[in-house]
Parts: sequence; C-alpha cells; structure tokens
Amino acid sequence: MSATTSDLPFHLRDNYAPVLDEIDATDLEVVGELPAELSGRYFRNGANPHTGKSPHWFAGDGMIHGIRLRDGNAEWYRNRYVKTRSFTEGVSYIGDDGSVDLTIGVNNTHIVGHAGKILALVESSFPCELDRELETVGVHDFDGRLDSAMTAHPKTCPVTGELHFFGYSFAPPYLRYHRVDADGVLVQSESIDVSGPTMIHDFSITENHVVFMDLPIIFDFELAMQGSMPYRWDDDYGARVGIMPRGGSGSSGESADVRWFDVDPCYVFHPLNSFESGSKVIIDTARYPEMWRQTSAKFHDVAALHRWELDLETGKVSERGLDDRPIEFPRLADSRVGLANRFGYAVSTFGDTNATVKYDLEQDTSVVHDFGDAVVPGEPVFVAAEHGSAEDDGWLLQYVYDKSSDTSSFVVLDARDPSTEAVATVQLPRRIPYGFHGTWFAD
Ligand SMILES: [Fe+2]
Repeated sequence: MSATTSDLPFHLRDNYAPVLDEIDATDLEVVGELPAELSGRYFRNGANPHTGKSPHWFAGDGMIHGIRLRDGNAEWYRNRYVKTRSFTEGVSYIGDDGSVDLTIGVNNTHIVGHAGKILALVESSFPCELDRELETVGVHDFDGRLDSAMTAHPKTCPVTGELHFFGYSFAPPYLRYHRVDADGVLVQSESIDVSGPTMIHDFSITENHVVFMDLPIIFDFELAMQGSMPYRWDDDYGARVGIMPRGGSGSSGESADVRWFDVDPCYVFHPLNSFESGSKVIIDTARYPEMWRQTSAKFHDVAALHRWELDLETGKVSERGLDDRPIEFPRLADSRVGLANRFGYAVSTFGDTNATVKYDLEQDTSVVHDFGDAVVPGEPVFVAAEHGSAEDDGWLLQYVYDKSSDTSSFVVLDARDPSTEAVATVQLPRRIPYGFHGTWFAD
C-alpha cells in the first residue's frame, strides 16, 4: 500500500498505513557512533493490518519492528507479524454469539520482557510469546492461571521483580488484578469493583500500592453490534482513582482494600509514574480533558502532563497541570517505576512541533530535542548506562519517520541532555509506520 493521501481513515494512510511484507536487512548504515555497551535488541510493537484494512487504529494485527545492536554496530533490522490466530486464521476474539476467546488477539500494543519471556500484548487478550528472533512461540496464559485479558502495560517492580497487571472486560467481573512473582509464576488474582465496563488502558504501582483508573470511557453494546470500537465517553459515569495495597483484596464488601478517590472527569491512556510521598500517592499522567465523545474514529483532544495527589490520611485530592504542551508516550527509567522519579520523557508531535521532551520534575523544567517540521519521533525508551549513577545517565531510543523522504531511522539520544545532536542515527531499509510501545532487551 502506498503511503499517500486518499479517502481512507487516518489510521490507514500516510505513515499510519501498514507495511505488508516481512523483511530482513543486515549491516545497517550508522551516522554518529552507537555506544558499544548498547548490545541488545530494541523491539517496538504497532497495529499493522495484514489485509491493509482495519476498522480502527487499535484493531490491526500486531507487527514488531526490531533492530539488533552489538559492539557499536547495527547488525540487523527485521519486522515480523505477531502470528496469533487472528492473523493465521482471520478469526476475532469476540465470536458471533458475543462470547470471548482470550487465546485470540491482535497483540499489537506493547512488547515486554519478564522472567526470561518476551510477550507481545494487547489489552483484549492473553499475551503472545515471541522469541528473540521475533518468531511467534504462542499464547502465554501463565500455565493456565490467567483468567482475564492482560493489559499491554504491566509494571515490573524494580525492588521485588514482581510483575503487576490487570485485565478488563465488558462483562463482569469488569476488572481483575494479577501479580506474578519474579520467577514468572502467577501468585495472586483479585476482582476489583468498578462502577461499570470501563476501558482501562494502563495503570501504575507505588512501593506499597497499585493504582487503578476508573474513567468515563465505557463499553457501548450498540457500537459493538455495529462492528465499531465499542467504547465511548459517558458524562454520567464520573471518574475515580483507586488505591489498593499490594497483596490486598479487591473484593466487594467490608474486606475490600481499595480506596476510591473522585477526580475531575478526564481520560488517561498513559501514566508517567506514581509514587508515595508521606501519606500521599502522587500520580503523573498524560491527561486528556475528554476522549471519544462523538466517535472513537478521531482523537481530537491532546493530552498534557498532569498530577493527582491523593492523601491516604485525609482523603483529600488535589490536581494540577504540570505543563501545557501536548504530549504522549510518557516513559521513565525502569529503575524508578513506582518510586519517586526526577525525570520523565515523552513525545510532543502535535501541531508544528515534533520533539522528544525531557522533564525535570524536581526543578520544574524541561528540554526538548527538536526534530523539525518533517521528522516525527515515536515513543522514547530510556536505557540506563551500565555504570551510570544519576537517574538520567543513559540513552533514549526511538524510531523516527521523515515525511520529506518517506523513510524511517532509529535514533539514539543522550538522555542527560537530549537537546544535543543525536548520538547515533541508523538508516532503516523501510518506512516504519507510527506505532505504539517498545522495549530494549539487553544481551
Ligand atoms: Fe499504551
């Protein structure tokens, strides 16, 4: 499919258009110098419908774009579909009778590592395991213990190595929480009471708690019958953030450990981080004032960095914007997940701006790497330097797309000062469509 304008919806044209074939390329050209200690693989997932068509941006087959770095060289690039049954058999996770088969999914949203496994994730289904060459291994259901879908945004605790995550559903129980130990064994599952079938894309953890967002985008049966993305904004739903102690109970009744805090209605796909400060839980997010009021086919609003402070002692909530700039895809150092963080990273690619943003949340300052009018960066993934001491000692990895040449490259920025010239740029053999989330898998 050509990446030219047409009557197609936005998610099928320009650089959202899928690339249909799988290719391999070796010995890629590097401009600048790849840090020798960056030996490993950067994998990034995205929606890429193999038929060239899909009803919504979030509905295409998963495709991973991977680059292999070793000893200062870019050894290979390759792209591979995530070959779930929706890809190989063309079946959907929702059957004609409305039943759900969690072993079928498009697994297009994220790719994460835990306990030696590489998992491609989508929030409607079970994980799909891949190998380090990006070939599909198959459905991973934690030895049959997983009884819900799995979010594409699990959180690995940097202290315990545990993987915390949730799954949501349009049928009760609407929300399930799961905890997997550092060895990959699913050791806890809880039902969490929410007000209805809400769409929950991501969540966060703190040192002692997990944080759920019960926000007003809810399942709509009529939209589902029309074959559309079956979620829409609901002015009557309200908005709440729930705090549950790790290892706590989410069940209804007096034993439930989740404390809910009312917040101003909004939508959040992605928190940057959350952490504890005295009696407060601090939650920083990329917050939209609203989302999908008329249709899920358009993303009218932009998100901005925003902070909730929930006081567990007084029950008080305070909220404020931290920056006006439109951002998405917030990330931080893996070592700070759930702990107080000074730095955060995001992209700002709206209007005339195409930049990677670094926030210093202690100093309330930010710097940007300005890519100019034509070059659009994707999610910046922070990789810590091996012997670094500061939180920002390391690099930011991201794919970028150049509209003027219809080509893509892989860019490494110095995370200590991303405003400086890129450390290295690797020319890629093909356009990489705009996608979602990725991970660095060190050797
Ligand atoms: Fe996401």
